[in-house]
Amino acid sequence: MRPESPLHHAKHVVRAALALVVGIVVIVLGRSFFVPETWGQFGSYRGSNVSEQMARPVRHGGNESCRACHEDQYDELASAGHESLECESCHAAVAQHARDDEKIADMPIQRDLELCLTCHRELDARPPSFPQIHAKQHIAENEGEFTEDACLECHEAHWPL
Ligand code: HEC
Ligand code: HEC
Ligand code: HEC
Ligand code: HEC
Repeated sequence: MRPESPLHHAKHVVRAALALVVGIVVIVLGRSFFVPETWGQFGSYRGSNVSEQMARPVRHGGNESCRACHEDQYDELASAGHESLECESCHAAVAQHARDDEKIADMPIQRDLELCLTCHRELDARPPSFPQIHAKQHIAENEGEFTEDACLECHEAHWPL
């Protein structure tokens, strides 16, 4: 009978250790393969994403970007009730409408009540201090007729008060 190797009773430990080493090697190699190069440059995200986002064209210009061509509407909006709003939240991004001091395409205008109700529909989730209405009730109370563009019969979109 062969003499027993001193490691005979430790075989299972050696196997486990081997499996662990192989596991670590796979993880370390796999990681260097899958993790993007600039990961961790600034924080726990891909550093190159910052320059990618910065390279995207700017589409919104804020109310100042409309002012030169729409002084009247700019003043209307600043007058009564809607002065905190952005033109582009009711219309669309300036980039699709004007470029280099020229109009390049029509700007959308939404006249139906859904535009107003996006912000003013009565909802439990809204703070009670925010002006909100139940459309049918509100129009009936003010003796109006419920139609698609009813809100604009009584309110001006730019200065609704
Ligand atoms: C609350 C949403 C809202 C905001 C904010 C808003 N608009 Fe309007 N805008 C409308 C609606 C609705 C109409 C259509 C009005 C109508 O037909 O009675 C309109 C019409 C217009 C028109 C067509 C001409 C006119 O006066 O009817 C222009 C130009 C215009 N808006 C520019 C602007 C500019 C510039 C701003 C920002 C200074 C702005 N709008 C902000 C909703 C809005
Ligand atoms: C370089 C000039 C210019 C800029 C900047 C500009 N517009 Fe206009 N816009 C025009 C012209 C020109 C018209 C057509 C004549 C008119 O209605 O005054 C027009 C028309 C409109 C109309 C009516 C629908 C249409 O397309 O004819 C709306 C609404 C409008 N603009 C909103 C805006 C808003 C909101 C901004 C800013 C985010 C803006 N515009 C920026 C030049 C401009
Ligand atoms: C993008 C959101 C938004 C849209 C769209 C919008 N509003 Fe407003 N509206 C506001 C905000 C914000 C105020 C200011 C609320 C405040 O003073 O606390 C306001 C104020 C008002 C007020 C004055 C309420 C008061 O008692 O001070 C009226 C009336 C009004 N809006 C009607 C309309 C009508 C009509 C439309 C559709 C043409 C419309 N709104 C579209 C956000 C919006
Ligand atoms: C028939 C006329 C009429 C119509 C149509 C109408 N309103 Fe009004 N609205 C008024 C009057 C008048 C007031 C001021 C008195 C009041 O609060 O009822 C007012 C007030 C408001 C207020 C302020 C409420 C507050 O609690 O401060 C909001 C917001 C408003 N309307 C939004 C709308 C919206 C959105 C529509 C379309 C769904 C609409 N209104 C349709 C006449 C009208």
